[in-house]
Amino acid sequence: MEPEKCCTVSCDLTLDQTYWDNQYQANDTGWDLGKVSPPLQSHIDRIQHKNAKILIPGCGNGYEAEYLLEQGFTNVTVIDIAPTLVENLRAKFAGKPINIVLGDFFAHDGQYDIILEQTFFCALPPSLRQRYVWKMHQLLADDGMLAGVLFNRDFETGPPFGGSVREYKQLFAGAFAVEMMADAQNSVDKRAGAEAIFSLRKKNGHVALYHFEGITCSGCQQTITEKFKAIDGVTNASISTDFSEVLVASEREIPLSTLQDAVAYDEKYQIRKR
Ligand SMILES: C[S@@+](CC[C@H](N)C(=O)[O-])C[C@H]1O[C@@H](n2cnc3c(N)ncnc32)[C@H](O)[C@@H]1O
Repeated sequence: MEPEKCCTVSCDLTLDQTYWDNQYQANDTGWDLGKVSPPLQSHIDRIQHKNAKILIPGCGNGYEAEYLLEQGFTNVTVIDIAPTLVENLRAKFAGKPINIVLGDFFAHDGQYDIILEQTFFCALPPSLRQRYVWKMHQLLADDGMLAGVLFNRDFETGPPFGGSVREYKQLFAGAFAVEMMADAQNSVDKRAGAEAIFSLRKKNGHVALYHFEGITCSGCQQTITEKFKAIDGVTNASISTDFSEVLVASEREIPLSTLQDAVAYDEKYQIRKR
């Protein structure tokens, strides 16, 4: 299997707009399949509702969007942070019924029935995974669906940043119900055996993201996570890999003071709303 190609110069760069735009300007887009991802194509073929409001974040060259339009979907939005790419997309899709947004997914507002994931999650620093779950939950309408493909393997460096089905199930629990998460059967050769196809249904509870300060080790991270999970009504809690954000899923809104009380045993722990 050909190795999945990493980034242009170094993998320690800030993965911001400049980074991604440089990738497109240098035409260094090793992730680009040149066609709709086969597992995602199979998934799209099962979507019956052609007027569903669909978002594709970090859309790249937009093969999935192109496929949706060919299949008669009428309400497709794509968003990407790279200006060079988005200019190309606007030319490519000129006159087509598609909404093309230049911007940061995390600053995007809207309500969608379906969000399609294809090598966007793995392009983000892993410390943003809690924020990704929170934002996906926010952007989906009630009973909305997040579906697509995730890497089911690790990489030495990233992007792409890998993960496992086990880790993803833990991450999304509480906020989403797993309808399907399984090995993809029809990946392109270089990703064969390394992808999971998934479909997650938004749960109607409360999902909130908080800033956190004071954690210095993974032991404390684990202890604090357990304290939040033990709060009545909390269905899941997790803390980002850089210890700066906490994701809390719950049956109802949990007062901030309840979360603060749970970590009040050590004054260096501070939790506040984002
Ligand atoms: C690895 S590429 C994948 C592109 C496309 N999904 C594909 O599979 O060909 C990641 C894409 O996410 C975009 N991206 C990265 N961070 C983003 C953000 N915060 N908001 C929107 N797009 C972002 C990049 O510009 C890039 O096009």
